[in-house]
Amino acid sequence: MKKVVIHKAGGFEQLILEEHPSPQAGKYEIKIAVKAIGVNYADVVIRWGLYRSAKEFVGWPITPGFEVAGTVIEVGSDVGSFAPGQEVFAVTLFNGYSTEICIPQHQVFHKPAKLTMEEAAGFPAVFLTAYHAVHQNIIIRENMKVLIHSAAGGVGSSLVQLCKLKGCEIIAIVGGEHKIETAKNMGADHVLDRYTTNIWSETAKIFPQGSDVIFDANGGESLKKGFNALAKGGKIVVYGTHSILPDKSGRINWIKLIYSFLTAARFHSLKLNTRSIINFNLSFMFHEKELLAEAMKDLINWVEHDQIKPLKVSTFRLENVADAHKAIQSGKTVGKLILTNNE
Ligand SMILES: NC(=O)c1ccc[n+]([C@@H]2O[C@H](COP(=O)([O-])OP(=O)(O)OC[C@H]3O[C@@H](n4cnc5c(N)ncnc54)[C@H](OP(=O)(O)O)[C@@H]3O)[C@@H](O)[C@H]2O)c1
Repeated sequence: MKKVVIHKAGGFEQLILEEHPSPQAGKYEIKIAVKAIGVNYADVVIRWGLYRSAKEFVGWPITPGFEVAGTVIEVGSDVGSFAPGQEVFAVTLFNGYSTEICIPQHQVFHKPAKLTMEEAAGFPAVFLTAYHAVHQNIIIRENMKVLIHSAAGGVGSSLVQLCKLKGCEIIAIVGGEHKIETAKNMGADHVLDRYTTNIWSETAKIFPQGSDVIFDANGGESLKKGFNALAKGGKIVVYGTHSILPDKSGRINWIKLIYSFLTAARFHSLKLNTRSIINFNLSFMFHEKELLAEAMKDLINWVEHDQIKPLKVSTFRLENVADAHKAIQSGKTVGKLILTNNE
């Protein structure tokens, strides 16, 4: 079997496709012949050597990849409800960029017939992140005013759909005119291009009382301005930190990093406020089986009943993994990028 291995932090050249022995399924594991793999922005951060859980749980070398779809090859002795030949999709704490993988059964799900292999591979990571943000961190109510950054990307598109399903009014922020249509198709009521609009003055006109919830993976300045744009009782859900990550060169900009740290939104218990900031990283929560089961049950039900739709996918062959990383690192993509294994 083949897998993409990164031996040390660096650029696209660090993504090396290697031949390795086929893995053996443990008692509670399912072995999958992988057909499609979801690419996430976090995979780029792993390649840079800046992803905390990757450093903590694996180190180097590492095979990135949080999600796959394929066919069951073998099930462990204590696995029920799955059999060889069935089509499945799964989340995995790394190792997804492989042609064969063994995954604990609670992270594997029957693939809904509605989804293609590619759509299924691109479904769990972004929708689980969005679900965790919307349903397991805050209380979301009908008619809430919600602002979503990077709303045409993977997690952003999923957040728009889940908030729309709850009946919220949504401002979607996107970086580029070519992303506006995607955000509208996901269900956004208002779409603002951050390159051509002052998003904060426009937001103040659309939501004069402020935003009830803001979903932000930018960090830095956007977090501070967002905090000031919250309504009473409003919350910012932070799940990423784009603005302080390396630029396209892959090098950390220390000046930007320090500036961002010094200007970050701060919280002090002496100034108890009605507004607050919540943050999470799902990769530290893989052991939370109940949260995962609850989320996937709802998400699969919603997709099967056309209440949410899979994201538009762009495919790359596994051997062209560097091109997929170049694309997602550029910040210009919409929807999901998928690696395909045609063996
Ligand atoms: N906390 C968690 O558990 C968790 C789980 C999954 C993902 N995430 C985070 O969620 C974010 C979105 O992930 P994704 O996989 O769905 O990616 P994505 O949204 O498909 O792509 C990233 C988007 O971020 C925006 N962006 C802003 N600054 C950027 C920069 N300097 N370089 C590249 N892109 C930039 C771009 O959109 P615009 O230009 O339209 O803003 C870009 O399209 C990432 O930060 C990721 O690490 C967190």
